[in-house]
Amino acid sequence: MQQLRLHHCPERELNTDDFTLVDVEPPEADQAPLQLTLRYISVDPYMRTRMQSDGYGYISHWAPQSILSGYGIAEVTASQRADWHPGDWAVGHLPMQEMIAHDGDGLRRAPPGDPPLSWLHPLGMTGFTAWLGMSLLGKPQADDTVLVGAAAGAVGSIAAQLAREAGARVIVSAGRQDKRDWLQRIGFATVLDHRADDFPSQLQHAIPEGLTLNYENLGGTAFSAAIEQMRPGGRIIVCGLISQYQWQEPRRAPTNIGHLNSKGVSIIPFVTPDHIARFPEFLEAMTPRVEHGELHWRLDIRHGGLSAVPNALIGLLSGDNLGKRLVAL
Ligand SMILES: NC(=O)c1ccc[n+]([C@@H]2O[C@H](COP(=O)([O-])OP(=O)(O)OC[C@H]3O[C@@H](n4cnc5c(N)ncnc54)[C@H](OP(=O)(O)O)[C@@H]3O)[C@@H](O)[C@H]2O)c1
Repeated sequence: MQQLRLHHCPERELNTDDFTLVDVEPPEADQAPLQLTLRYISVDPYMRTRMQSDGYGYISHWAPQSILSGYGIAEVTASQRADWHPGDWAVGHLPMQEMIAHDGDGLRRAPPGDPPLSWLHPLGMTGFTAWLGMSLLGKPQADDTVLVGAAAGAVGSIAAQLAREAGARVIVSAGRQDKRDWLQRIGFATVLDHRADDFPSQLQHAIPEGLTLNYENLGGTAFSAAIEQMRPGGRIIVCGLISQYQWQEPRRAPTNIGHLNSKGVSIIPFVTPDHIARFPEFLEAMTPRVEHGELHWRLDIRHGGLSAVPNALIGLLSGDNLGKRLVAL
């Protein structure tokens, strides 16, 4: 069976030579209570930050030859546990290898049937990130003017809808025309292009009154433009800085951050592992919305098994996805 490992820690832009697919013996039948076959693996921006040599203490670093891992859906093929059965779905953080021996701890179980793909998006870590950053920390209200970047992506699409549900005016941005068209189709009236050279003036023109809440996913020049539009007393939720993840200093602050001093803007950074105890509360709030079809969400599934993961991640880091990127095995 195959296993995907990191070959080198990239010092610049990630490329396919930084990965290696190796053949290894499958796990022994009695190695662990559950035998799993991996079916879907989530591909996420934070994977690039796990390859940085330091600075991301909340998640373990991947060194050369580390087996990659991610949130995934696996099928149970054999079980020695009374609470798990062959055909069940196991969802959790899993190694990127075709067959997995697992004790079952930390996994969510779904009964046989269709794979629970929503558990890798609106009812999984991306939905949790959006709910945490927007609803719990950002607390949008009807009098807020909110900006959400990368809004056709996984976290951004959910975060923008949560702010809209709260009654706020929501301005969204995306870097490609088909993404902006989708955002308009799901009801966002003001859809900007954060990759355009004139993004700062697009933003200024769209919201001359300024922003009270910025949900930051992008970093770089788009973040700088948002900083210029912040109103006194506003909040900035620092969710991610994806445009910087391939830089040597991926967490560098925008050079105009000092402009916030006189405005009294709060900067609220967060990472999901610090708030994982809220996951049950998140599921309680979001499950009915997903089950009743109240949220728009899309999957962007690449096929081809583990060998498709490197290009799926490289592409995500340049923006070739529309919706939540997964790889099917
Ligand atoms: N704080 C946390 O715990 C946490 C957890 C999960 C995710 N996040 C963050 O949330 C953000 C979104 O993550 P996601 O998983 O939902 O990914 P995503 O939005 O589905 O995909 C990433 C998107 O980022 C944009 N992008 C990629 N490279 C870019 C570049 N060089 N310059 C500008 N835009 C670029 C692209 O959208 P466009 O084509 O529209 O530019 C791309 O589609 C990321 O910053 C991520 O790190 C944070």
